[in-house]
Amino acid sequence: MRGFRVGDEVLGFTHRRAGHAQYVLVDDVHLVSRPAGLPWEVAGALYVAGTTAYAGVFAVDPGPEDTVVVSGAAGGVGSLAVQLARLRGATVIGLASEPHHAWLEKHGVLPVTCGPGTAERIREASGGRVDAFIDTIGEGYVALAVELGVRPARINTIRDGKAATEIGAPTYGEGAAASAVVLGEPARLAARCRPEVPIARTHPPEAVQEAFRALERRHTHGKIVLRP
Ligand SMILES: NC(=O)c1ccc[n+]([C@@H]2O[C@H](COP(=O)([O-])OP(=O)(O)OC[C@H]3O[C@@H](n4cnc5c(N)ncnc54)[C@H](OP(=O)(O)O)[C@@H]3O)[C@@H](O)[C@H]2O)c1
Repeated sequence: MRGFRVGDEVLGFTHRRAGHAQYVLVDDVHLVSRPAGLPWEVAGALYVAGTTAYAGVFAVDPGPEDTVVVSGAAGGVGSLAVQLARLRGATVIGLASEPHHAWLEKHGVLPVTCGPGTAERIREASGGRVDAFIDTIGEGYVALAVELGVRPARINTIRDGKAATEIGAPTYGEGAAASAVVLGEPARLAARCRPEVPIARTHPPEAVQEAFRALERRHTHGKIVLRP
């Protein structure tokens, strides 16, 4: 093993779908040291939600002049994407149901309710100009971004590859961000609570079914984490 010693605290990933495993063999190039102060449940949430959010923000490259819309803004990926886009100075509009609006506002995000009439509400909140769109939901959000006048190069989706292919939009997500270098960046930022990684709930591994039932309801704010 290069670079690490027995007993080092690390976070990382493997492509062997071992998220529930008690012991796992991980390639050392897929590990980073746990930054001081990074809680374990947050460390466990960063791959893949943190890296996917990072990739989505990187794909649309928001800056201080830009208005960016994020669908699923309170979810595991979206809650981090909105904050990473804010850290780049962009104006961020977060699509979410009303119970999540207070959290979004607290993080400097303009909340917009999703559902019928979303396009009009976004136009109102943005003053009519949307520069980039990060979609974490699919279900027509790529078409909505096009309708809002966003150029395909600045629409990233992690859920609707078909719509992305049709218009030539990027689909940066888990695959693009599967790197310890990428993982290290949200880990470093999250250790300082910027972004804050909302942990909806933690479950012991024995309660994994309960965790999946909650996830399937698809209204989680942040991440559900298994913690021994
Ligand atoms: N391609 C990749 O690389 C990649 C990587 C990671 C994840 N993913 C996928 O990306 C999706 C998002 O992941 P996640 O971890 O962020 O999921 P999540 O935490 O389960 O997302 C939950 C959020 O989705 C919102 N939502 C659910 N249905 C919606 C709808 N019909 N319209 C608008 N918002 C809706 C909910 O908002 P409200 O409660 O406000 O309704 C909730 O806050 C998942 O399907 C996941 O499998 C893809």
